[in-house]
Amino acid sequence: MKFGYFDDQNREYVIQQPNTPLPWINFLGNEKYFGIISNTAGGYSFYQDARLRRITRYRYNNAPLDVGGRYLYIRDNKAASLGQEDYYWSPSWQPVRKDLDQYQCRHGLGYTTILGKKNDLICEGSYFVPLNQDFEVWRFTLKNQRKQPADLSLYSAVEFCLWDAADDQNNFQRNLSIGEVEVEDGVIYHKTEYRERRNHYSYLACSVPIKGFETQREAFLGPYRGWENPLAVEKGTTENSLAHGWQPIGAHHIRLTLQPGESQEVIFILGYQENSRKKKFSDPESQILNKSEAKSKLKMYLNSDYVVNALSELKEYWDDLLGVYQVNTPDPHIDRMVNLWNQYQVMATFNFSRSASYFESGIGRGMGFRDSNQDLLGFVHLIPERARERILDLAGTQKEDGSAYHQYSPLTKRGNDAVGSDFNDDPLWLVLAVAAYLKETEDWPILDNLVPYDNQPGSEKTLFHHLNASINFTLDRLGPHELPLIGRADWNDCLNLNCYSTEPGQSFQTTTNKGGKTAESVFIAGLFILAANEMVKISKFRKDEISVNRYQKAAEKMELSIWEHGWDGEWFKRAYDDAGAPVGSRSCAEGQIFIEPQGFCIMAGLGLRNGKARMALDSVNERLATEHGIVLQQPAYSKYYLNLGEITSYPPGYKENAGIFCHTNPWIMIAEAMLGEGKKALDYYHLINPSVREEFSDLHKCEPYVYAQMIAGRDAATPGEAKNSWLTGTAAWNFLAISQWILGIRPDYDGLIIDPVIPEEWNGFQAVRKFRNVTYKINVSRIGQGDDLKISIDGKPIRGNIIKRVPGDLSEIEVDVSIGSVT
Ligand code: BGC
Ligand code: NOJ
Repeated sequence: MKFGYFDDQNREYVIQQPNTPLPWINFLGNEKYFGIISNTAGGYSFYQDARLRRITRYRYNNAPLDVGGRYLYIRDNKAASLGQEDYYWSPSWQPVRKDLDQYQCRHGLGYTTILGKKNDLICEGSYFVPLNQDFEVWRFTLKNQRKQPADLSLYSAVEFCLWDAADDQNNFQRNLSIGEVEVEDGVIYHKTEYRERRNHYSYLACSVPIKGFETQREAFLGPYRGWENPLAVEKGTTENSLAHGWQPIGAHHIRLTLQPGESQEVIFILGYQENSRKKKFSDPESQILNKSEAKSKLKMYLNSDYVVNALSELKEYWDDLLGVYQVNTPDPHIDRMVNLWNQYQVMATFNFSRSASYFESGIGRGMGFRDSNQDLLGFVHLIPERARERILDLAGTQKEDGSAYHQYSPLTKRGNDAVGSDFNDDPLWLVLAVAAYLKETEDWPILDNLVPYDNQPGSEKTLFHHLNASINFTLDRLGPHELPLIGRADWNDCLNLNCYSTEPGQSFQTTTNKGGKTAESVFIAGLFILAANEMVKISKFRKDEISVNRYQKAAEKMELSIWEHGWDGEWFKRAYDDAGAPVGSRSCAEGQIFIEPQGFCIMAGLGLRNGKARMALDSVNERLATEHGIVLQQPAYSKYYLNLGEITSYPPGYKENAGIFCHTNPWIMIAEAMLGEGKKALDYYHLINPSVREEFSDLHKCEPYVYAQMIAGRDAATPGEAKNSWLTGTAAWNFLAISQWILGIRPDYDGLIIDPVIPEEWNGFQAVRKFRNVTYKINVSRIGQGDDLKISIDGKPIRGNIIKRVPGDLSEIEVDVSIGSVT
């Protein structure tokens, strides 16, 4: 069953009924001001940091689902006076949830439009954040399709958050006494804590004159009422309450009469404003907000012309970004994901790491070190300058011994002490991120950029020094089998081999009660080889032969350790536990084969020539592949194992315990592509592709336009049911698998590699790739069976499959690729 459809032409997903299985969300904002918006206008906004600068309140995991949002109520005053039922409703369905005669939500690139029609009144609201602005616009158009005039009241409503979203849900003995607002010229300003150390406020403004307002929640809702039936809306009144403590809100009351056929536009602006410390107050002796900056923005953006223009600028911005990589293949699921949704999701993961989504509260985690480095792999082609800045931020949280804070705060850019470090894979991901950045940009000077360790002034060393520290971090921590020690965990946060936890509530990630000198990870070994090989290439470019040799030897030595201790006979082992016993081996009772080392060891080049890669991938296919994707391991753990940690805390089939942890699936696709198996790679690609899964959205539950972190595996009670959409490494890795490995358009240090591995039944495909200021128009055609490639540029054949130099100063070239041989 579907709940909507893809409008590929308009680059939108169109939802046709409001009660989707879960809120289907979109993200608003580009760099600093952000919002989450669901298909029924639920969600919240924040500035830079979803925990520390939360603008509006939201209640996760509530009943009904999705409470808190950017709400609008329409009240038909005449119907109310006649005592008719249903005289008020919300055009976005929530929060009133009265049936609408027509409903449609269009999620687009950085904007969402929700249309609701009831009793011949159509209301369409578009929500977006203009480029480079610290506010969001809600633009409503109301149309009266009746034959009589409509006498209406409109109510806007948001609930302000008292800034620190964690504190806001915690510290009520204080919170309920600190809320403050000001209302001036119909604009509601929220200024809690402004009197003391904060220099920021938020505001909700409206483009038409208002009849009244409420800023105290209780005054708006009435005692013991919810957002679905506010007393003010029920009665059609407002008391102009000024919040003192309790729960400050922003609610306007607008009266409108619409003649038959008449439309009217009403614009709301919800914004965030910082004042310099010196100019906090309108008069230094007063406590009145200095509102001048907000007012000058409102003067412009409460006008339709500005708003219309800002929305088209946003669309152009996305056209440009997406123009870097566009394809036209025989497969619509590939086209819409690659051309649009997958790249769009990659931007969201880059912006938020794992902080704020419908499944991530925005409170618990900041930017993950491992996560952000991987997100960057799929993002770097979109805005390389932002990737550069991110790399330097990440490296700045690294410590001198190469270790990295597992997370850092996006606002302060400081490492999170509560979580600390010791996830022994973390530092190596930085090498992959920098490698991807160099391949995209050729910005070699970045390696000599000075970056501090742990943000300490005076500790600055070159970025290359940091990368070297990452490599040394692993080499300094080898275990009894000369494999890397795992620390608290590697990529799999839940494989906790140094935490024997018997106390409920102990964090598996931060509790370590084993010495850490025994448990080893074959996964990190594979990742290490991949990273060391990049360091070999990077060092070659720097003409640093000593480093070339050192990294080469380290990679070779690690490979020997893997073959000696990490190969299980038909697949790669996963790890060794604290007792030195193998994990992910045929000799284990459960958890005999894991997906991660198969993907990473093969991506690192192991077994490509001796048949072992094929053997491992066949084992994956036989033991792990299911109709919904490839599960993480098998057999699922049926009970809690003290020596393995959180992975065995999940019921079988969910999350890391044999769920389809989608992030890992593209590793296998890439491995298959490396072996030339385009069809196998694509078959896996289709299993988890959300557009393919749209057909059974009732089972899949999550949005059909973005990847989810996890799909329940075959051991679960609900196989095929997805959870945790949006913020997952799946976005970046799937983009790499399809765009770089299957379609084969892959940046490398010295040029663009064109190496498609497509199924026999494809006739070919076309792609446009902008790379280092040149537009490559690529036309791939199959001329026969097999994988033989012949490439010509502007009609002239070249040798090999890498385009190193573009002839002359051409800014655009035609690349013709033929695959297969004519027999
Ligand atoms: C989750 C993991 C996640 C980890 C992060 C665990 O509870 O299951 O997927 O990576 O928390 O801290
Ligand atoms: C989610 C985390 O964000 C990511 O870093 C980790 O690799 C996976 N969970 C697997 O445990």
